[in-house]
Amino acid sequence: MDARRPLMAGNWKMFKTHTEAVATASELLHLVSGVTDRDIMLAPTYSALVPVGEALQNSNISLGAQNLFWESDGAFTGEIAPGMLKAAGCEYVIIGHSERRQYFGETDGTVNKRIRAAIEADLRPVLCIGETETQRDADETFSVLDKQIQNGLQNFALADLNHLVVAYEPVWAIGTGKTASTDQAQEAHQHIRSLLEKAFGQDLAHRTRILYGGSVKPDNVDELMQMPDLDGALVGGASLKADSFGRIVQFQT
Ligand code: PGA
Repeated sequence: MDARRPLMAGNWKMFKTHTEAVATASELLHLVSGVTDRDIMLAPTYSALVPVGEALQNSNISLGAQNLFWESDGAFTGEIAPGMLKAAGCEYVIIGHSERRQYFGETDGTVNKRIRAAIEADLRPVLCIGETETQRDADETFSVLDKQIQNGLQNFALADLNHLVVAYEPVWAIGTGKTASTDQAQEAHQHIRSLLEKAFGQDLAHRTRILYGGSVKPDNVDELMQMPDLDGALVGGASLKADSFGRIVQFQT
């Protein structure tokens, strides 16, 4: 069985000016320059993409964006096109983050359009899914994940999804300091992999990286990454400081 190469991704949300972002990215570069056995990605705000991309050029850290619009250009005030992200040096794009779903009206339908647009622009989509606390308490976790995967990936052909990354982020664990237990995370990841298998076959399910997100920190990452179906992490708060994210990237199992 081919091991999935871990992906350690930092989601900087709406933090850091472009100057601050370049400074943290440069600091991180020094800390992780020797890392060759895992992929690393940083997703700063739009205004920082180009300068951070320049700072990361020819390095082992890839650039990612936090969202995109599905049209290639046009009168869409405030939006950003896939081709613009590609031109800025992005390799990845986060799609359907729970904060987009919660505050900006993102639905599985719009997630689906954004994933298609990302794939067409040769960007690697990082599809974020996860249940709220109320849904978990009502035993709806699996049904929520089923719906998010089915609708988010509706009408895709197997060949479209070669570079798909999924991020399982229980909403109750994001920015709260409450992390899913290793067993809770593993159970959800295994379920997501089984959904991918049902929809797209064993090979794709096997190859697709499923990241865990939600209060990942230097002191819990080692334990989480021991679980067989956790293939990396999507890190918010603890990715904002280079030393903390540098440690997370270099997790030990
Ligand atoms: P957190 O955020 O690490 O601050 O919980 C994770 C995320 O929202 O991707």
